[in-house]
Amino acid sequence: MFRLPELRAFCASFASVYRSASIHTRLAHLSTASGSTIGDLTSRPANLSENSTDHVAILGGGNLGIALARGWVRAGRFSPSRVAVTRRKPARLAALEAEGFVTGLTSAKASAQAHIIVLAVQPQQLPALLKDIAPAIDPSRHRVISVVSGASIADIRGVLGQQVDVVRAMPNTAVVIGESMTCLCGDDGVALDEAQALFDLVGRTLVISEDMIGAATALCACGIAFFLRTVRAAMQGGIEIGFHPEDAALLAAQTAKGAASLTLQAGAHPEREIDRVTTPRGCTIAGLNEMEHQGLSSAMIKGIVVSANAAAGLYKTD
Ligand SMILES: NC(=O)c1ccc[n+]([C@@H]2O[C@H](COP(=O)([O-])OP(=O)(O)OC[C@H]3O[C@@H](n4cnc5c(N)ncnc54)[C@H](OP(=O)(O)O)[C@@H]3O)[C@@H](O)[C@H]2O)c1
Repeated sequence: MFRLPELRAFCASFASVYRSASIHTRLAHLSTASGSTIGDLTSRPANLSENSTDHVAILGGGNLGIALARGWVRAGRFSPSRVAVTRRKPARLAALEAEGFVTGLTSAKASAQAHIIVLAVQPQQLPALLKDIAPAIDPSRHRVISVVSGASIADIRGVLGQQVDVVRAMPNTAVVIGESMTCLCGDDGVALDEAQALFDLVGRTLVISEDMIGAATALCACGIAFFLRTVRAAMQGGIEIGFHPEDAALLAAQTAKGAASLTLQAGAHPEREIDRVTTPRGCTIAGLNEMEHQGLSSAMIKGIVVSANAAAGLYKTD
């Protein structure tokens, strides 16, 4: 059981781990802000600046949309005045407005003024959004990037027009710190290259076929939560063996980062790095085997499969 001071310390340390992704605390703030209707637009930046050849409209200013907006600005790709972010309750974008982003436009107007349009609403919200922006879409000028789980390129073109360039991207919330893993698919050509270049700025990318996007959703987008849960579990273990929560959070997260970096830099199978740590009759193999007896690998594999199956069924039009 926690005593109150320990509980406070636990919460503070947990917030500090998540703060690197910024959106956790900021969205907590946003979600407590009062709602307003689309008509309440007057106090916000009203338009994207003059030249509309290099502006982005992020339609759906939620967890991922906001992380993308901040990630591209942090990477130096856009100034905030070139990024419009929309949602139906724009008052909840007050924090972005304060950072200089354009938050005062409807999705249709933001699309009309932009060159790149990012669809970032939930799957069930997409049909209404597509219907809303369809009249503003000009296939000769617009490139559409969808991060919406489950909705295919054909679904989107079915509403916006067959000539429109549509690329699907599956990033994760680490875009905000430039550490996403983003899978992309689309027709070979400039639109796909441009989209890949955009996501290269906020992490690493891989072009895949569209039938693998559901799998990428599970492994990369949902994967952030899976790995964070393992960090939290390690942290809890660390507390039980004697570390204060804030120290346990640092030790667990930095060790997880080191393990991931070793795999990425060596480009080798993780088991090779594990072999270097598991001395015969040692404490690492003892702990590792106990975790396997308890189902560690099996739980992760099963969770990813269930997640991928769920991702495949997310988009429904009726
Ligand atoms: N979160 C992730 O880690 C992640 C990773 C990869 C892919 N994705 C995909 O990205 C999409 C967004 O996910 P999310 O987690 O960011 O969801 P979210 O936090 O619920 O954000 C969705 C946002 O869309 C806005 N919205 C809904 N209808 C709209 C409309 N017609 N016009 C403009 N804005 C509208 C909502 O605000 P209002 O209610 O105010 O309109 C909300 O802020 C989903 O399809 C998800 O599957 C998410």
